[in-house]
Amino acid sequence: MDFTSLLRCPASGSPLTLDGDALVNASGQRYPIVNGIPRLLTPTKDAQEEALREKMQRFYEQHTFPGYDGIDSPGVLIEKARRSQFGRWLDEAISPFATVLEVGCGTGQMTNFLSLVSTRTLIGVDMSIASLTLGDAFACKHHMQNVHFLQGNIFALPIGQNCVDVLICSGVLHHTPDPQGGYRELLKRVKPGGTIVIGLYNTYARIPLGLRKVLFHCTGGAFRWIDYHMRRRDVDASKKEIWYADQYFNPHESWHSVDEVLKWFDSSGVKFLSGVPAIAESLPEDAKVGTRLFLPHPRGTPAGHVLRQLQWMFTIGKEGGLFVLVGKKAI
Ligand SMILES: C[S@@+](CC[C@H](N)C(=O)[O-])C[C@H]1O[C@@H](n2cnc3c(N)ncnc32)[C@H](O)[C@@H]1O
Repeated sequence: MDFTSLLRCPASGSPLTLDGDALVNASGQRYPIVNGIPRLLTPTKDAQEEALREKMQRFYEQHTFPGYDGIDSPGVLIEKARRSQFGRWLDEAISPFATVLEVGCGTGQMTNFLSLVSTRTLIGVDMSIASLTLGDAFACKHHMQNVHFLQGNIFALPIGQNCVDVLICSGVLHHTPDPQGGYRELLKRVKPGGTIVIGLYNTYARIPLGLRKVLFHCTGGAFRWIDYHMRRRDVDASKKEIWYADQYFNPHESWHSVDEVLKWFDSSGVKFLSGVPAIAESLPEDAKVGTRLFLPHPRGTPAGHVLRQLQWMFTIGKEGGLFVLVGKKAI
């Protein structure tokens, strides 16, 4: 797969061609490739939204998330993904021949992990050069040629329409001023019949963290150990600091309910496939949800979702309250 054929000028939407150390659009506008990373970031149109994006970019240039310390080989990456379960399930569900776009890939750990199947094509887009540099350095060090990182903005994506089989955007839209607008931009890139995977902070599951945030801000972080992540022995100090800053000192975040995201799906012709955690009672044969992540699961009811999300306060609430919904774009 020629990766440049998927790229588009973020300003005009026209195709880009490679010319030396730059990508060039039809009217000659050049986007430099610096240290192997194409710089295709253009501003969000709305000035207020752009001001917030710039603020967020400054934050993520300083706090590269997730932390890379200690992750120095594909084996360690595999081990980490196995432990998180979600990474393993995603890997099992994605075809070995898929073109996969991860938007807001941060340091690219998921992008790199999924590209360990060498027949896939992986593209990781983020606005933070510091984060992308870490992901790209890992890929180069381990000679991973099917993965490409580039700098871009969700609201002016440098990727063609209807061209990827799977789009992943986890932990990102809630840091933008217009999460649903961002979702619509992402969906445009998915092929008809393709899959979209969206991870967001949950309105209910995030409540305990919200309370801890107030406590930490009032006490100057004196009770940091209350956070489960900060007590973990299997996470090194620098990763803990990145987690702490990202969760408790992030300049902007919003919280979202299951039914809100289901409405996004319904209003854009996307069929709900599955949730992590599950959003309704799983069927017995669904015990192995992993390999079935991209197959239809029970959708449940709004009342059932409220109960489930209240329970999430005590389960995924420990880890930041992020939930994932998977949907299939209409053919
Ligand atoms: C919390 S990190 C999540 C990283 C990764 N997806 C993960 O789950 O570990 C959020 C990432 O979204 C990126 N991001 C936020 N707004 C963005 C935008 N408008 N365009 C591109 N990337 C954005 C940030 O730079 C940051 O790396």
